[in-house]
Order: sequence, then C-alpha cells, then structure tokens
Amino acid sequence: MIEFTDLTKSYAGRLPVLDSVTMKIDQGEFFFLSGVSGAGKTTVFRLLLMLELPEQGNIRFNGADILRYSPAQRARHRRGIGTVFQDQDNRLLANESIEENVALPLRIAGLSGRKMRQRMGTLLEQVGLAERRKELVSGLSGGEKQLVSIARALVFGPRVFFADEPTGNLDRSMAFKVMELLRRIHDSGSTVIVATHDLSLIRSFRSRTLLIKDRKIQEVRLINRAETAAAR
Ligand SMILES: Nc1ncnc2c1ncn2[C@@H]1O[C@H](COP(=O)(O)OP(=O)(O)OP(=O)(O)O)[C@@H](O)[C@H]1O
Ligand SMILES: [Mg+2]
Repeated sequence: MIEFTDLTKSYAGRLPVLDSVTMKIDQGEFFFLSGVSGAGKTTVFRLLLMLELPEQGNIRFNGADILRYSPAQRARHRRGIGTVFQDQDNRLLANESIEENVALPLRIAGLSGRKMRQRMGTLLEQVGLAERRKELVSGLSGGEKQLVSIARALVFGPRVFFADEPTGNLDRSMAFKVMELLRRIHDSGSTVIVATHDLSLIRSFRSRTLLIKDRKIQEVRLINRAETAAAR
C-alpha cells in the first residue's frame, strides 16, 4: 500500500539522503523506521505527506501515484494520515485545554455540537485523559503532551498513522505507555509507522523494522544485541 520505487531525495546542494530507494509496506503492518540521527526518518514521512518532493522515482499510496496529485487531492491524502510530528510540542496550543487541542481539527472540518463531543469523548478515553480534559496543555508533562498529540492525530479515524520519535525524551514507563497506545491503534486495523533511533525500544516491541543506512532503506531483524550493534 506504501511503495517507493527508485526514489532519490536530496536537499539543495547536499548529498542525497535517500539514493534510489525501493521499498514496500503492506496495509495493516506495524513498522519501526530506524536509523541514526540525520539518516532521513523525518524525510521519509515528509515525502509520504508530500511536504517534500523527490528528484527521482515514484511513490505509490493505496495504488495511487501521489506525485501526480492535484492540490485538492494532496489535501485529502494528508487528512487520511494521522501524524504525530517530531516537534509536536510546538504544534499544540499551550494555553488551551486538552479538549480544545484535540477538538481543533474537528472544528476546522466544520464539525460541532453533539457529534464532536461524542468523538472527543471516545478519543480522550482512548488515550486515558478523559478526566483531565479541562486542564491546560501548558501544565502537562512531555509524555502527556504526546498522548494529546496522538488523540488529535486520530480525530479522522486514519487508516495510516505516522509517529515521528514519539518516545523521545520520555522515561521508560511513559515510552511504553505511548507504544502500547500505538499498538492498539495498529490492532484496530491501521497501518502504523513509528520512527525511532531507540534500538532498545525496537527490541522490546519486536516489530518489523526498516533501517535507513547508507542512503538506502532495508528491512532488518533487531532481536538481539549483536544484530542491534551491526545496525548502527
Ligand atoms: N529542510 C532541509 N534542508 C536541508 N537539509 C535538510 C532539511 N531537512 C533535513 N535535512 C538534512 O537531511 C538529513 C536527514 O534529515 P532527517 O530530519 O530526515 O533525519 P532524521 O533521521 O529524522 O534525524 P533525527 O533522528 O535527528 O530526527 C540530515 O542530514 C538533515 O540535515
Ligand atoms: Mg527526525
């Protein structure tokens, strides 16, 4: 359902981040996307969201050639993907409540009243923040903010979910809580891709893993420490 063919991406005047990459992710998979800092994990998400364009190659998404999309089709494509960005913290409205932050995309989409409240209730239950819905985001911990960001990314019931370093800066217990939530999103039928450079997290969760290394993307097994060391 997500397919790169012979894809090359470089930023102006620099060596390519991805060089002639071919890869495929099937519908309903849970994948980690790993690689050292600067390897290109965020770039992969930005390409899939069409926030960056490649110099060469093709990207197919649900069978469609997204590089040919019109601006309207691009907007629809992005709405169908739940995304938690790496700098999510900056994207929440600190002086608004948890509830308001999650409701924002629904308001923009013109939903209001009972329907919106129902949807909000479900989402806040799902991330375990229903009782704290009136609290301001500015007073939350980093991990709690991640949960708000995830709830907000789920508002339109996306079939595909991207999380870019969702556990960066969280302690072990909060990181696991966030990962369990992403697992549940996957269990409900969505394709989930989690970018992380935390190889010990990958070992704990034992999901399929794509590694970006030497400008290529390949599937790797990271089960034991020796394999993990080889991937660095
Ligand atoms: N807008 C940009 N302009 C120029 N270079 C960029 C831009 N965005 C990313 N890069 C470069 O592309 C490379 C890949 O960056 P990217 O953010 O995709 O890495 P990453 O794997 O997500 O890293 P991290 O783990 O630190 O988040 C880096 O060398 C980075 O400096
Ligand atoms: Mg990144």
